[in-house]
Amino acid sequence: AIKKLYKQSEKYLGKRIKVNGWVRTVRASKAFGFIELNDGTFFANLQVVFEESLSNFKEVARLVTGSAITVEGELVESPGAKQPFELKAENIEIVGSCAADYPLQKKRHTFEFLRTIAHLRPRTNTFAAVFRVRSLAAYAIHKFFQERDFVYAHTPVITGSDAEGAGEMFRVTTLGFDNTPRNEAGQVDFTRDFFGRETNLTVSGQLEVETYCHAFGKVYTFGPTFRAENSNTPRHAAEFWMIEPEIAFADLKDDMDLAESMMKYVIGYVMENAPEEMDFFNKFIDKSLLARLENVLKSEFGHVTYSEAIDILKNSPEKFEYPVEWGYDLQTEHERYLAEKHFQKPVFVTDYPKQIKAFYMRMNNDQKTVAAMDLLVPGVGEIIGGSQREERLDYLEQRMKELGLSPEDYWWYLDIRKYGGTTHAGYGLGFERLIMYLTGMSNIRDVISFPRTPKNAEF
Ligand code: 4AD
Ligand code: MG
Repeated sequence: AIKKLYKQSEKYLGKRIKVNGWVRTVRASKAFGFIELNDGTFFANLQVVFEESLSNFKEVARLVTGSAITVEGELVESPGAKQPFELKAENIEIVGSCAADYPLQKKRHTFEFLRTIAHLRPRTNTFAAVFRVRSLAAYAIHKFFQERDFVYAHTPVITGSDAEGAGEMFRVTTLGFDNTPRNEAGQVDFTRDFFGRETNLTVSGQLEVETYCHAFGKVYTFGPTFRAENSNTPRHAAEFWMIEPEIAFADLKDDMDLAESMMKYVIGYVMENAPEEMDFFNKFIDKSLLARLENVLKSEFGHVTYSEAIDILKNSPEKFEYPVEWGYDLQTEHERYLAEKHFQKPVFVTDYPKQIKAFYMRMNNDQKTVAAMDLLVPGVGEIIGGSQREERLDYLEQRMKELGLSPEDYWWYLDIRKYGGTTHAGYGLGFERLIMYLTGMSNIRDVISFPRTPKNAEF
């Protein structure tokens, strides 16, 4: 891999090596030529030098951007100052040619255009960096939890319950089966559709992971989740990945401490292990990115209650589009004001009014607010949503009835309160929002490989 050549060049200099990659550019004269080769492991290209003596010199000299080749030769120090070494080709195999209509010619393309070729955009420097960072961040998250003895629980994608009680679900159907249940008019009966049951794609693995939490103490799930919300914003997708830890014998403060340590760990890990990518983002995407992230590592996250946050917003000089009123949910503009202008760092907002939060959050003594926390960060807004869970069976059943949810549908969830229930807490980190925060990319469509947003399911 080309990255290895750059990181351990002393090991490879003077040696005969074989490298696979894709051609970025070719310059050739009658007697010799240069290829800039990239293999996706690193920004830097490998300069390949080839001479007339090559058996297929003419074909190689005519190679175009995008072709796939395998080069064998000796890695030597480069006489030019532009690169530390070059590969003197003894043999070049043309593995895959590239058609003339290849859209990624050597010029700048807009992110909007590149979204229309989501299958090719990881070949560009920006998207290669985004998806290498995404891969590394996923690894860092597993490493963080595994080192702390959390058990990784796999929660189902097809579920029979609505984890958020918000009705934003995609239905799963068995359309196409001869025995699909139908009503008298011949229409599919969705309430019995999945082998006699109504099912949907999960909006969150939380309810299931709470049950595993009561077996293992500390657990997390990390997988795809789905929301059938028709919001066309730079931070919402219909399919996104979520990290959801859950801890037993723990309260809201433990939950926030865990979230803060995890965020700092992942930021630190990515900065340490992808320095070139982070420099690239700092240079081309967001000039204050590295300073901001370094600052996050050094400082403590802010804490403010929802009621205090409402006062801050009401007294701010900012003109907001949406109303600021106790009992109304915070909009992105409010969240960003709090994180970017007022606190100027990540801040936890706690104790939201019960009517704007989900049924499972623990009721506070005031009977008006719940033990909820959202983590807001500059540039993104809400990145984490979590809470201490309602462990008291009577409170939980009461709250479900108030919200029109039937406790019978959640019998297994309620069992957890009957059989050795504990005070427990957890949260969900939106993985794409984390990647936006880490890279400075400002649209969720540019941090997930094949984005699923309204009118965007081409691939
Ligand atoms: O705040 P949310 O809805 O919380 C839950 O789903 C809880 N069950 C999590 C838990 O406590 N285990 O979602 C959590 C996070 C949000 O803070 C946001 O980062 C992300 O998931 N998120 C989305 N990301 C992209 N597109 C969407 N449509 C998202 N909806 C939520
Ligand atoms: Mg939320």
